[in-house]
Amino acid sequence: MASDSSEKLRVLGVVGSPRKGGNTDILVDAVLAGAERAGAESSKIYLGKLNLKPCRACEGCKKAGRCVNDDDMQLVLSQMDQSTIWVLGTPVYFWGPTGWFKAFVDRWYGAREHINFAEKKAILAVPFEDTKTATARHTVGMIKDALDYMKTPLLASIVVPGVLNKGDVNSHEETLAAASRAGYDAVVNHNAALGAE
Ligand SMILES: Cc1cc2nc3c(=O)[nH]c(=O)nc-3n(C[C@H](O)[C@H](O)[C@H](O)COP(=O)(O)O)c2cc1C
Repeated sequence: MASDSSEKLRVLGVVGSPRKGGNTDILVDAVLAGAERAGAESSKIYLGKLNLKPCRACEGCKKAGRCVNDDDMQLVLSQMDQSTIWVLGTPVYFWGPTGWFKAFVDRWYGAREHINFAEKKAILAVPFEDTKTATARHTVGMIKDALDYMKTPLLASIVVPGVLNKGDVNSHEETLAAASRAGYDAVVNHNAALGAE
């Protein structure tokens, strides 16, 4: 979608954890709050509440221009298309993202037919239990490489070790402030770049 500088910038939060109100949700909310503070409009989707089927590698998206899976991905794609900045959140599940999040990313294979990924920007939010940052390396690396492949610039990564239970991240005030700042900066910098054009 072409952006118009008179329109409010739209920011979409994508929560890949099945826990509503969990650490991923809280981190995504912090980024969205920062974006709103900078004047953006935000919305959020919970992948775990949607009917998202995995990619079947049938190449239907290439042949017919449309995924053969008749599920909620059409809704997700429409929200992604209407937003300029995506806040992508997933906890670490066995060194990778959640199944919901991976199914979502795999479906980008066909999404290229509908969305210009190069026009979008992303911010990443990844909480996990282990206290070693390296535990998130595959999760963060997979998403970074996938974004790179799709030519979507990654603006910031909020990677948060040491959070296990629902809401644990609320005690990480500095992290939440950094997440909010990332959302704020993303919108301010985007608008400044538009103004400079
Ligand atoms: C199935 C499952 C697998 C998990 N695997 C890992 C893991 O490999 N490493 C880790 O540090 N934490 C792991 N965790 C812990 C979560 O990453 C952690 O609880 C996170 O804060 C959950 O985020 P949420 O509140 O947004 O759901 C796992 C949790 C679940 C339920």
